Amino acid sequence: MTSQDNMSEEHLPEAVGPHGGAVAVHDDPFADPGLPPHEPRRTDIDERAAARAERQVARWFILSMIATVGFIASYVAIKPSNGDGTTGVIYIFTLGHISALNFALGTTLGISLFGIGAGAVHWARTLMSDEEHIAERHPIESTPEVRAQVFADFRQGAAESGFGRRKLIRNTMIGAMAMLPLSAIVLFRDLGPLPEKKLDTTDWSAGKQLINMNTNEPLQPSDITVGSLTFAMPPGLNPDDPNADPTFQEVIATSALLLVRMEPSDIKDAKSASWGYDGILAFSKICTHVGCPISLYEQQTHHVLCPCHQSTFDLSDGGRVIFGPAGHPLPQLQITVNADGNLAAVRDFTQPVGPGFWERS
Ligand code: FES
Repeated sequence: MTSQDNMSEEHLPEAVGPHGGAVAVHDDPFADPGLPPHEPRRTDIDERAAARAERQVARWFILSMIATVGFIASYVAIKPSNGDGTTGVIYIFTLGHISALNFALGTTLGISLFGIGAGAVHWARTLMSDEEHIAERHPIESTPEVRAQVFADFRQGAAESGFGRRKLIRNTMIGAMAMLPLSAIVLFRDLGPLPEKKLDTTDWSAGKQLINMNTNEPLQPSDITVGSLTFAMPPGLNPDDPNADPTFQEVIATSALLLVRMEPSDIKDAKSASWGYDGILAFSKICTHVGCPISLYEQQTHHVLCPCHQSTFDLSDGGRVIFGPAGHPLPQLQITVNADGNLAAVRDFTQPVGPGFWERS
């Protein structure tokens, strides 16, 4: 055996712990240098220095609180940029022209967070105990004695941090951390106003004619043949018309209709049949699952299929859901024929169209 082999074996672990790990090394060539002697800091031996450090920490936390108030004040007082650069914009060196509101919110929130962090770090560096302790390696599973020791250490750490004794720091830190979430709360305002009753109604009302989405002409019963699928919208939404409602996209998103015609004897639901005209039924085109436009019609079965998640509705049975995740039937619009012979709404939908929402009764 060579001397090199001897060296290797000499440095192998000689003992194996109860969980299989090495617990001791025989003849370790590197002596444990140990810890340098603890040197107390000025704040450990000078009560005035400690009080000064305490005030410094408190100042950081107070700065954080002031910045949080500034954040909220900025949000309330500063107008957002109007997008064309004439209002709500300031010039910041190296950043150029930026939104004054964004700058104020970012600056105050940054100072607020920094104040808490700086206060905590300064507290730890100047006033909390800085004595180092050696933690010996031990099996991963801690013994009851170790767990008891952990709790004892925790209590000792809490006592040494002065959390209970230094009430000024504790109270200002709690104040800073309690106020910080207020910044997030005011931002909830940006989620927009509640929809209130807007989702309950559509653009349809009594007498509004059904306009063919393809031709932009009023629909007559003779335009709709058995087995066909026709899309309709309220009048005044032709995007090529200069006088068209500029919000036509939003209106169509709630008011689009699909019209089918079937033999009256094929309609299973008597109320649904009475809301149609001579076998012509008008349903919302907006899927009641999550609002995709429906467009796939099986004329033999009178089923319409939503392409998004395959919800299937039976138009011969009041728009009932027969498959898929949609939670309720397709709303039906009651229609009639007006004096000009055109199809027209009797009234608005009697229930909200599209996906369910919490105000649905
Ligand atoms: Fe129609 Fe999901 S949106 S099934």
